Amino acid sequence: MKTLRTQVLIVGAGPSGLLLGQLLHKAGVANLIVERQTGDYVLGRIRAGVLEQTTVDLLDEAGVGARMHAEGLEHHGFELMFDGQRHHIDLSRLTGGKSVMVYGQTEVTRDLMEARAAVGEQTLYSASDVELFGFDGDIPGARCTVNGERIEILCDYIAGCDGYHGVSRASVPADAIKTHEKVYPFGWLGLLSDTPPVSHELIYGRHERGFTLCSMRSATRSRYYLQVPLTDQASDWSDERFWHELRLRLDPAAAAALVTGPSLEKSIAPLRSFVAEPMRFGRLFLAGDAAHIVPPTGAKGLNLAASDVRYLSQALIEHYREQSRAGIDHYSARCLSRIWKAERFSWWFTSLMHNLPHEPEIDAKLHRAELEYVVSSEAAMTSMAENYVGLPW
Ligand code: APR
Ligand code: PHB
Repeated sequence: MKTLRTQVLIVGAGPSGLLLGQLLHKAGVANLIVERQTGDYVLGRIRAGVLEQTTVDLLDEAGVGARMHAEGLEHHGFELMFDGQRHHIDLSRLTGGKSVMVYGQTEVTRDLMEARAAVGEQTLYSASDVELFGFDGDIPGARCTVNGERIEILCDYIAGCDGYHGVSRASVPADAIKTHEKVYPFGWLGLLSDTPPVSHELIYGRHERGFTLCSMRSATRSRYYLQVPLTDQASDWSDERFWHELRLRLDPAAAAALVTGPSLEKSIAPLRSFVAEPMRFGRLFLAGDAAHIVPPTGAKGLNLAASDVRYLSQALIEHYREQSRAGIDHYSARCLSRIWKAERFSWWFTSLMHNLPHEPEIDAKLHRAELEYVVSSEAAMTSMAENYVGLPW
């Protein structure tokens, strides 16, 4: 068996693991990433694409912001649609000038991968049977198989950035971790197409046929979502059926302006709220989707992953530079305070915008009243806007 050594072993080369690796590298902390999939597979996953200003700042700090600034779209507002009408939420006016950046997670991941390759930090792709050991003692590490060869990696700390289905959270003894979970009784059917977006801003719509979201990746690439029953398969939805259903859920002006075209990708994602507590177990830290999931309404997933990585990179860098344990000891509490607030917002926005199958009429009426309140009260709109652009660190 081959043995490798590093300071921080990162499990998972999604946005959390890659961003952590880049920030540690910049501070001179050695790190190695093990990833179960190939790089191309990781880049094939299509996910949300709205970055808070704090995430943009962190990507800049990591030195990977150039393409994002050149190609990303700065958005100063979005539209809430219900009862066939759109209402503008002016994020910048309501938040003292803040905005969000529309730039796909796939592109963030690509920029991070390229930056990592350029500085020559090691990533072991296609690593199977990853097993963690020793994180409750002083010599943690992992064993895995790469190209048929068994490899042992010894390290000081392990960062579990391996997503919801990863090995890191699963390696923690059941009595040391508490999980909280809510699964929503509907999914999102997403479609990506090389067509101009229907509006220059994102549209979040509530409709009696179900929620819809009109988003984008660029001036020529759109991303649309429809609320669908969990029993549906993507193959049940031809492109024609998708476009027809989307039109039915839009206001007349948007339905008329919608440009359709062949789908580049179509898939159904379930919606879940999930938090694991705490997020540190001795020398193992969880970060990103390994520790928490939000439903995508509001696009908080990647932003929360970035805030975990910010706290974790600061804690580890401070520890190596100053022998301080403060950041390490406070990591979990600092992350969770921000996570629960974003969980609350994502759950609220999801509940407000979707309708449940066989929903009692009173619930639909209450949601409509709440939507009317949100668009007519400066206080309610400000609360929505400050959460959407991202709460302070
Ligand atoms: N060993 C090694 N790698 C693994 C293992 C394992 N046992 N299990 C999973 N992985 C890898 C996955 O293949 C994936 O590339 O860990 C990576 C985790 O990446 P993500 O799931 O993208 O999670 P994260 O980096 O935390 O990103 C959070 O992704 O789902 C969105 O909303 C979420 O935008 C947020 C972001
Ligand atoms: C997306 O563009 O994929 C997207 C945007 C906003 C969301 C969710 C997803 O709230």
